[in-house]
Amino acid sequence: ADGTVEIPVVFNVIYNTTAQNVSDARIAEQIAVLNADYGATNSDINKIPAAFQPSAAGNVKISFKLVATNRKQYTKTGWRSDLEEMKKSTTGGINATDPTKNLNIWVVNSILDENSQPGTLGYAYYPESAGLWYDGLVIGYQYIGKTGASAPFNLGRTVTHEVGHYLNLPHLWGSSNTGCQTDYSNDTPTSPGPNYGTPTYPLNRVCGGVSRSQMFMNYMDYVDDKAMFMFSANQKTRMQAVVAAAGPRAGLR
Ligand code: ARG
Ligand code: ZN
Ligand code: CA
Repeated sequence: ADGTVEIPVVFNVIYNTTAQNVSDARIAEQIAVLNADYGATNSDINKIPAAFQPSAAGNVKISFKLVATNRKQYTKTGWRSDLEEMKKSTTGGINATDPTKNLNIWVVNSILDENSQPGTLGYAYYPESAGLWYDGLVIGYQYIGKTGASAPFNLGRTVTHEVGHYLNLPHLWGSSNTGCQTDYSNDTPTSPGPNYGTPTYPLNRVCGGVSRSQMFMNYMDYVDDKAMFMFSANQKTRMQAVVAAAGPRAGLR
């Protein structure tokens, strides 16, 4: 009634050891984190600095509902992201459940790059990939939910961040690692690159000779889970456009 779009979520958990087979309780925690962060009911929202409060999103009006959890045991100890091995039963994975209608989240023991090296916590596809067989998120099992998750990424915000990408949000510094590129949101200050750990506010950084106070507490930065707690109003507008009736992810509605 308030215009909230509810996204159906399918978890595809592929594990080797039983410790990697994240529990239903942890998946429920993850869904609750998404609903809090996108609904602006997260308990740390009062930490937004006064200067950024006018540009805070408030309720993004996108919610999440778990509709299925698929589980599979497999011997692989790591999964190549460039080959999308976790998304095909022929390479040991689990095929997506209709990615036009559902947000698929694959949970794996380790995400490997093209050189078979681990590194990333998670990755996602932009709406330009809507409905393709590999559309969705891949997340390391250590970063799902809260209980038993791996500090400092143990508040479920890796998924919050990756869903931001899925809903068309680039990093604050833009899509190039040169930084200082647009993220198409005028209310997030231009940034030269990621921030890490738990920065102290205010933090000024320079792009094109102009120093700006950084919105490092935005979910689309790289800070620790406990240091990120907001989206901006312009980011909300971008995400709503994706799930709108004429948007690229309208099939989720
Ligand atoms: N490095 C990953 C990415 O760019 C995820 C970063 C998640 N950050 C966090 N605090 N959980 O997609
Ligand atoms: Zn990212
Ligand atoms: Ca911006």
